[in-house]
Amino acid sequence: MSVQIQSRSKKTIGSWQGSDQDLKFEPGEILETLRDLSKDCFLIDYQDKIAVANSGRFLTGNDLENSHPVAAVSLAISPSDFGDEGFTTTHGIKSAYMAGSMANAISGIELVTSLGKAGFLASYGSGGVAPEKLLDAITAIKNNLPDGPYAFNLIHSPNEPVMEQKAVDLFLEHKVKTVEASAFLRLTPTVVQYRAAGLAADGSGNISINNKIIAKLSRPEVALHFLNPAPEKILAQLVEEGKITAQQAQLAGKVPMADDITVEADSGGHTDNRPLVGLLPSITALRNEIQENNKYPERVRIGAGGGISTPASVLAAFSMGAAYVVTGSVNQGCTEAGTSNQVKLALAQAAAPDVMMAPSADMFEMGVKVQVLKRGTMFPMRSQKLYETYLKYDSINDINPVERQELEQKIFQNDLDSIWQECVKFFSERDPSQLKKAENNPKRKMALIFRWYLGLATHWGIHGIPERVMDYQIWCGPSMGAFNDWARSTDLEAAENRHVVEIADQLMMGAAYQYRLNQLAIQGLQVPTTWERHLGFN
Ligand SMILES: Cc1cc2nc3c(=O)[nH]c(=O)nc-3n(C[C@H](O)[C@H](O)[C@H](O)COP(=O)(O)O)c2cc1C
Repeated sequence: MSVQIQSRSKKTIGSWQGSDQDLKFEPGEILETLRDLSKDCFLIDYQDKIAVANSGRFLTGNDLENSHPVAAVSLAISPSDFGDEGFTTTHGIKSAYMAGSMANAISGIELVTSLGKAGFLASYGSGGVAPEKLLDAITAIKNNLPDGPYAFNLIHSPNEPVMEQKAVDLFLEHKVKTVEASAFLRLTPTVVQYRAAGLAADGSGNISINNKIIAKLSRPEVALHFLNPAPEKILAQLVEEGKITAQQAQLAGKVPMADDITVEADSGGHTDNRPLVGLLPSITALRNEIQENNKYPERVRIGAGGGISTPASVLAAFSMGAAYVVTGSVNQGCTEAGTSNQVKLALAQAAAPDVMMAPSADMFEMGVKVQVLKRGTMFPMRSQKLYETYLKYDSINDINPVERQELEQKIFQNDLDSIWQECVKFFSERDPSQLKKAENNPKRKMALIFRWYLGLATHWGIHGIPERVMDYQIWCGPSMGAFNDWARSTDLEAAENRHVVEIADQLMMGAAYQYRLNQLAIQGLQVPTTWERHLGFN
């Protein structure tokens, strides 16, 4: 195996002038020089070998006096060069990287604080978190990161609109300035209220947007809602209810609903399994069209998420024009994530094909699915069985007795009537309207019972309940397997060594290094395969 750089084109693009003593010939020194991304790098054709220098100067023209021919040049690059500067300045972060929300506080106080202190944006996973706990998290994160950066998830809950409203009430009361809005299919009054309530006009007619929205979505028709200003009808209703002022409603008609849109491709959790390479250009084109019509002073930035977990995928997203990148699955496997060690160990073992779609707890009745880990758990099969039963029958009393017994023994480990009593207890505290709706609707009651299993399956995983190991619901995308492949036989292979900040740094630095290698490749130079992994930075 060659440990030298191979020149495939033998082209010369100019000349290098400098001290011959600064030229590196040994493979180890060459690699070290290439990895120093803070300096321009010159690859010099020296007596049929490639030598490298990061000092001296590059001149156009060949055969100049006291010079050597240059085969390739790679300019200095930093992770902060990637993406849209507007994203980093708006959110006060060091580079265009964000850790997306993970429900049930899997992206919790520790994860958000660690990344925030290192200058990265992370979003607290408010989905499934009770209002009292959400308030505690807001207080703690604001205390840990008084000047940010941080965001909170505003997740659309079609079955629990009360929870969505309570979250917005808390965000407004406690001045949470950035939300990651997700799972919306259309705009609700709550998300519009959040946006509009943060608008103000300064003396010179500029609109200041104090409540920032990073909308995460996968479909152009949903993107349209966030690229455009809020609908007048919802704004008028909010004014009437006294939730925003008439002036805020008027300003809301002039600004887009979101500052940033994360285009989410095949990911862990809710996903349409679409490939990023197709989706990102489509939604970027839509943004361009709307920007041309609406001429906002600042265009809505389009970022990319889903499937991003290696330096190559980070670079691919930026190469397609992403304003920023969002990771998810890979952070769940880190020590800072709010889940059990059992889950983290399972994630560290996952290969890319070890994931599949399974019914989602929050939108079970609508047939919505989420991407989960299938290795080591029966959850995907069991939850699918429940969904099929839900479609087949109108009430738990109609379920064929043999089938019912099987469900009770294998899945619920209890009889369905007792499970219903647990649902009554749960919803009486959390959202009694759910019980009211189920009162005279046996199909709805059945849905709530089945959702008991789907909801708890997540908690069994988070708390590492040993008796329920075969029922763990672990949201996870194929990006987890890609990360594991990339991290194999390095320090990051072991679950206990995975930390969100180091991974963010490695992915961004690695993307910059990969960019350098790509530049060399375009100029006809190929490095040995063993040099392709960048690990060793920091
Ligand atoms: C365990 C887990 C929980 C998630 N929960 C949420 C959530 O509550 N709200 C949300 O907007 N996105 C959620 N996501 C999506 C992530 O924020 C992120 O967009 C996605 O994971 C990126 O794709 P990847 O998994 O391929 O990295 C979740 C993802 C995972 C893996």
